[in-house]
Amino acid sequence: MIIKASNLQDTDKIGKIIGESLKGGTVICLEGELGAGKTTLTQSIAKGLEIHDYVTSPTFTIIKEYNGRLNLYHMDAYRLDSEDEMYDLGYDEYIKSDGVCIIEWASKIKGLIPKSAINITININYENNDRELDINGEGEQFNIIKEKLQE
Ligand SMILES: Nc1ncnc2c1ncn2[C@@H]1O[C@H](COP(=O)(O)OP(=O)(O)O)[C@@H](O)[C@H]1O
Ligand SMILES: [Mg+2]
Repeated sequence: MIIKASNLQDTDKIGKIIGESLKGGTVICLEGELGAGKTTLTQSIAKGLEIHDYVTSPTFTIIKEYNGRLNLYHMDAYRLDSEDEMYDLGYDEYIKSDGVCIIEWASKIKGLIPKSAINITININYENNDRELDINGEGEQFNIIKEKLQE
């Protein structure tokens, strides 16, 4: 499904709805160029997960952990050179946990992404600085999110 986010408020609303709908064990992959809004969307998803800490970009630490209704493992694969590196950081335990994993630049670790993952690509429309969110998935969790976003 494609949803338009004309401003930060829209992105915040979408992120909160996604966060509120999430069940443990979900993996969300975020794609989109630098500045598209991957970290910004994650901050709003975190609100929906009842996380009160301020979520910041994990680019340099690769993985950051937050506690809320569900634990959030926020990752950024941008600086990784190989999938092995992600594994060495304990990826397997995060992905198998009953928390939620949100992975920016997930395409860099394609081989490590479960089939049930939800994929969100954020595109910038440079004419008016709008964002377009392309949300896809196969599992039950995707259908729940799709329904909530259509309401
Ligand atoms: N509709 C929007 N949704 C998300 N971010 C937006 C939007 N409009 C403007 N922005 C701005 O774009 C930037 C996105 O940065 P960030 O979330 O760090 O991107 P990324 O993690 O994809 O590199 C922020 O400065 C944010 O304020
Ligand atoms: Mg980011």
